[in-house]
Parts: sequence; structure tokens; C-alpha cells
Amino acid sequence: MLPDPSQPPIKASTVIRNIGQLITLAQQPIPEATGALQIISDAALAVSNGVIVWIGSDDAAEPMFQQDTGHKADGITIVDAQGVVVTPGFVDSHTHLVFAGDRSEEFHLRRAGVSYGELLTQGRGILSTVNATRSTDAEKLTELAITRLNTMRHYGTATVEVKTGYGLDKITEETCLRIINNLNAYEASSTRNYSRIRVIPTFLGAHVVPPEYRDRRNDYIDLIVEEMLPSFVGLARFCDVFCEREAFTLEECRRILTRAKALGYALKIHADQLSSSGGAKLAAELGATSADHLDFAADADLDALREAGVVATLLPGCSYTLRSPYPSARRFIDRGLHVALATDFNPGTSYCENMQMMLGLAMSSMGMSLEEALMATTINGARALALQNTVGSIEVGKRCELAFWSIRDYHEIGYHFGINLIQSVLVS
Ligand code: NIG
Ligand code: FE
Repeated sequence: MLPDPSQPPIKASTVIRNIGQLITLAQQPIPEATGALQIISDAALAVSNGVIVWIGSDDAAEPMFQQDTGHKADGITIVDAQGVVVTPGFVDSHTHLVFAGDRSEEFHLRRAGVSYGELLTQGRGILSTVNATRSTDAEKLTELAITRLNTMRHYGTATVEVKTGYGLDKITEETCLRIINNLNAYEASSTRNYSRIRVIPTFLGAHVVPPEYRDRRNDYIDLIVEEMLPSFVGLARFCDVFCEREAFTLEECRRILTRAKALGYALKIHADQLSSSGGAKLAAELGATSADHLDFAADADLDALREAGVVATLLPGCSYTLRSPYPSARRFIDRGLHVALATDFNPGTSYCENMQMMLGLAMSSMGMSLEEALMATTINGARALALQNTVGSIEVGKRCELAFWSIRDYHEIGYHFGINLIQSVLVS
């Protein structure tokens, strides 16, 4: 975009110059950009009030935003990216970040042959994390969550969805929702490396039936539908359910999600993770924003998801941890679905904050190309949160959420593995 002398000068608070490769993932073509990822080499961009106001070549930026006067020229902060790769910050659209305790013992038991479902039926698994979470105060839970958020940001994440689901009583679920909402305002430090991270809250009261309701599960569902959902309106943007043999039946999930939808929540479903549970079909029927896991979803279910515009979220961290087969991303992409990748960060099935790891696993074991994996971890993650008009790509009008990599050619992503290639994340 060359400066147009007939237009007034662009007002910017920050200008980022000398970007070696700007991987915009723009949804509207940019004249200077090339390829499916809409890449601009030797690029610059300008930001005002946290919104991207200009993108173009660094040469074009020169006459518009002076660099030579140092750090604060006419009130503009000039950042020199030193020729590195810049992408949108990752959008991690599925995590269970707020919990206490750990389940390393179960990890090793599973390695020795005990299944995830067996542990859950024995009252361990999710239920042991529920015990640990209920007996930990809000201050400690917040501290644990902040440490994890900082790790996520360190590995490139700028926006993260966070679910409840380890409280499973009205007070603890509400406490966890308030913690999640407060995380949104948290400033880890004032430096540009650790600015704010965007947090999207999800209510997952239907994670499993808590022990005190084991013999009267309908009462627990009544509690969710009649008390929790109405009083959490405004605290959670999404309502999620775990639709699975060991958790909630299809009919129970339909009842909870129908009520949630009527109250204005957007919907998500843990669908067809351990068996063919019907969750994907339900997601299509109710117009959920995303259906997540989908390891056992049938082809017809995938078609239904595509027709209903539901994003398919794949979670390779679970396959890695449970040593179960990785879902083939090709099945989804070749059918025309939008596929997102997320960490599913949780103490049971995916104890990993790192989206670069998910990107690498998707390329090595799920048949995704680098381009597809980058889309899945940014713009499609944003789609899975209905935030595609706000974040997930670098475009004029979108929020400025950038990941600065320590590489000069984006083809190193996935190839150079097992180390952190992110230098810093900027969320302004
Ligand atoms: O997405 N499947 C249900 N929930 C999580 C696991 C939670 C846990 O094991 O603590 C998941 O895999
Ligand atoms: Fe999950």
C-alpha cells in the first residue's frame, strides 16, 4: 500500500518496521502479499489504539513514519523487528487452564496399560482434579492459572479460551468463572514481551457428574439447567459439554445446550472423543461454534458439521498423551471443513501449553501442511471462538496480536522442532 498524498496521514501510536516476513493470513487479499498465507516480505505495520491501521512494505513506511529520530518520534513508538518472521499470535481455542493438583501418576499408569475411561469409572481422572480444585482457594488457583498463561504466551499464544469444569458445584464453578474473567485484565509486566493475553471464558459444568450426584444424575442436570446456566449469563461466553459414555449422554447434552442457547450462550461440544457418541451431529443440529476432538466422528457427521458451519477443532496433545491414533486432518480439510488446532491444556489428557507443539504434531502425524497448520492455529482458532473478525490474522481493522519468531524464514516452523522458536508476543 503506497501512501496516497490525497489522504490525510495515518495516525498511529506504534509502527513495527523491518519485518522480514509478515505472515498475515489475511482473509481479504492484500496487494503486496503473496500465496495462501498472504505473506509480505520486508514489511511494516502501524497500530493505533490496539488496532492495525496500516500494513505495507517497509519502503512505503519510510516516508510515512520516520524511524531515524529514535524510539519515540512524534509520539509514535517505532519497533525494529530486525528482519524476523511475524505471524498472528496463536489462538488456543480449547483449554482447561484453571485447576489444582496434577495427575502424573495416572499418566504413568496409562503408559502401563490402564485406560483413561477405566480411571474415570474408578472415580479418578477428572474427579481427582475436581477434589484438588475444590480444596484450593481462589488466590492459589489464580496464581496457578497465571503461571500457565505466562507459559502459553512465552510459546506464542495471544488469545486463549479457558473452560471451567473442575468445580462442578455452583460455588466453585462460579469462583472459577470469576478467576477466568479476571485473568483477562492481568498484566504480567509492562514490557512488550509480556503484555496482556486475551482470555475467553467457557462454562463446562457438564464435564462429568460429581460424586455427590452419582446416584441422582438428573438432579445435577437440573442444577446446571435451572441454576448454574441462568446465573452465569455474562460470566461465560460459551457453554460446553462432555458428550461421552463416561460423562453425559446425548439427550442430557441436548437438554443442557438447548437451554444454554436460549440464554444466549454460544455452544461447544467435546464430541466423539473416546467413542462415537453422537456429539458431532448434535453440534450441527444446534449450530455450535465448534465441535472438538472428533476422533470417532463418522463421515456423515463431518458433512453435517460443514453444512452447519461448525468449526472442527482437533487436539493432537490428547493423542500424544493417551497414545491413541491421531485423527487425520485430511479427512476434515478435504471435505471443506474449517479445522482449528488447540492444546486442550489439562492435567489428564494434554498437559501442554505449547501451540508450536500442536502445529508440529499436526504436520508430522495428522497430514497437515505448514500452511494448513498455521491457519489452524491462528485464523481458524479465532473462528472456533467466533472471533474471526477481531483476531487470528494481521489485517487493517483487526486487533494487534503478533508473534515475533526468532527465525527469518517461516519454513523453519515444524522443521526445527522441540525448541521454542518464539521470541515474544505483542498484544496491544
Ligand atoms: O478435553 N474430555 C474431557 N475433558 C478433557 C480432559 C480433562 C481431564 O482429563 O482432566 C479433554 O480431554
Ligand atoms: Fe477438553
